[in-house]
Amino acid sequence: MTDQPILVARRIGHCYRAAQREVWALREVSLALQPGEFVCLVGPSGCGKTTLLRILAGLLRPTQGEIRWMGQPLQGPDRRIGIVFQRDSLLPWRTAMENVRLPLELNGQSGPEADRRARALLGQAGLEGFEDAYPRELSGGMQHRVALARALAADPEILLLDEPFATLDALTRERLNEVLLALWEGRRKTVLMVTHDVHEAARLADRVLVMRPRPGAIVAEIPISLPRPRGADRWSHAAFLETVWAIRQALGDGALEQESEGEGP
Ligand SMILES: Nc1ncnc2c1ncn2[C@@H]1O[C@H](COP(=O)(O)OP(=O)(O)OP(=O)(O)O)[C@@H](O)[C@H]1O
Ligand SMILES: [Mg+2]
Repeated sequence: MTDQPILVARRIGHCYRAAQREVWALREVSLALQPGEFVCLVGPSGCGKTTLLRILAGLLRPTQGEIRWMGQPLQGPDRRIGIVFQRDSLLPWRTAMENVRLPLELNGQSGPEADRRARALLGQAGLEGFEDAYPRELSGGMQHRVALARALAADPEILLLDEPFATLDALTRERLNEVLLALWEGRRKTVLMVTHDVHEAARLADRVLVMRPRPGAIVAEIPISLPRPRGADRWSHAAFLETVWAIRQALGDGALEQESEGEGP
């Protein structure tokens, strides 16, 4: 028996129109996310990943096709859909705690209960003791963790993450992967995360969707049955390396170019 999918994209197409140009960023993209699964979306730069995420979050209306959220057509943003953008920024005049509390305040929740919740999320993200720090006093990795905690504050059913760790060094990134997995395993919400790092996708996902550009489309779906936890001690195992290779092959020629772009000094 299969669960009812929580979020469905049906034959999504999106065309950006500028004065003289039109760009078809997506064509015929369909996907269905099951409750509780962790899906990674990989693909080279410009293949439409951010566009797709914005459409799935109800922030952008697709030119073609339909999004269904919990069985109904998605009409616009919904607070049960959390999103962390590619270059997400915290509000500089608010402390870490006040940033995380923001979605709760927007929801009409304040007082000790909201504080408790924001504090607990910061703790889970490994930021205990930094509640009163301003963003400028935090490292890039710490700011990302605050953004993640903020996205979780409204207790979304699904979290859409757009390359949340792309600008970080490999070790910080691995640490944040663990933070994210711990948060996911604790809450069992659905996660769709964009990454162009095939290794990261193999470490995190239940399923990897592979996109190719011009026009942006999903060209492969790779289920990942590797047991969890997938710690560093497993990364040299044949099964893990085969998974990484399968994703890389599905990406095709664009893959290596992308990786050197993303993993440069
Ligand atoms: N606001 C916009 N106006 C016009 N064209 C856009 C706009 N946003 C994106 N595009 C175009 O749509 C295509 C897909 O862009 P998108 O940002 O979705 O790609 P991406 O896969 O997220 O890339 P990256 O990995 O570099 O973040 C690109 O060709 C881009 O130039
Ligand atoms: Mg993008």
